[in-house]
Amino acid sequence: MASQTLTIRRPDDWHVHLRDGDMLRKVAPYTARQFARAIVMPNLVPPIASVDAARGYRKRILEATGPGFTPLMTCYLTDETSPDELERGFSEGVWLAAKLYPAGATTNSASGVTNFRNIYPSLARMEKIGMVLCVHGEVTDPDVDVFDRETVFIQRILSTLVEDFPSLKIVLEHITTKEAVAFVQSAGPNLAATVTPQHLILNRNAIFAGGLRPHAYCLPVAKREKHRLAVREAATSGSPKFFLGTDSAPHARQAKESACGCAGLFNAPFALESYAIVFEEEGALDKLEIFASVHGPAFYGLPLNEGTVTLERAKVQVPAEIGGIVPFHAGETLRWRLLA
Ligand code: NCD
Ligand code: ZN
Repeated sequence: MASQTLTIRRPDDWHVHLRDGDMLRKVAPYTARQFARAIVMPNLVPPIASVDAARGYRKRILEATGPGFTPLMTCYLTDETSPDELERGFSEGVWLAAKLYPAGATTNSASGVTNFRNIYPSLARMEKIGMVLCVHGEVTDPDVDVFDRETVFIQRILSTLVEDFPSLKIVLEHITTKEAVAFVQSAGPNLAATVTPQHLILNRNAIFAGGLRPHAYCLPVAKREKHRLAVREAATSGSPKFFLGTDSAPHARQAKESACGCAGLFNAPFALESYAIVFEEEGALDKLEIFASVHGPAFYGLPLNEGTVTLERAKVQVPAEIGGIVPFHAGETLRWRLLA
């Protein structure tokens, strides 16, 4: 009989949106319950683009989560980012990575980078000091089909970055395509990728199942089934190039159920449960620990967490709504449960 519990080293989330203010206080405890550390995205309004802003945000996160959780901060890259400020935040231990949002690619990316050449001085500095670049890998050119934006980003931009900065550590975030899987696999050890639960579970049909489903809409948008299968195979393969990053991105219900609904899924409350279901379906439960708790810190050069968490094979009912936000899997019954 299959084992009834699964105990793994405490995991981390290498990509999460915790927001600010009331929303932060509401959502951050869910991430802190599941994960020891998380790479916190800087796409607030205004963005987290200075050392002082990151310090203040980190303090607010810690107030929201209480002790036992470590937020790992990121700097939002803009056309104006100063390499000196980047290095100062890194050497003072305030931020660990910087985030490249192509301007206009996603939620709160208006201040993002308009031409990737504009940040070459910053990238050169990051390469020199060993600071990781996190990338939202989608082009924003309106002529490019929304389902092709990740693949075209790899062809037009990422391949150039990898060539021009061979020692820069890059994380291609929330990968959704077989092209992304293949590119990451074929690149050297400085390129890795994070994988979300939703891109392991949903294909693009989910967005149109019986009607328009705003709670299945995130960016990058879910792709065809063949892409989902490729991403699943990569995540569960045991390769150190793929690790956990939820991209939990909460929006109030009204902001998603709208004529122009926001992109993003709130998956933090049941993230490990989601991943466990996928790994079990793929016959790879033995690989969940390295995906969730080992490959990420190894890539970032951080120590592994002490301690463990345990998932129990037990039914858990996902609420229809959590604090005005519709969570991923709302209304479903999951078959793994994270113990307190
Ligand atoms: C994110 C958000 O809402 O901040 N949305 C999303 O669909 N993933 C931004 C992002 O990561 O693209
Ligand atoms: Zn994100």
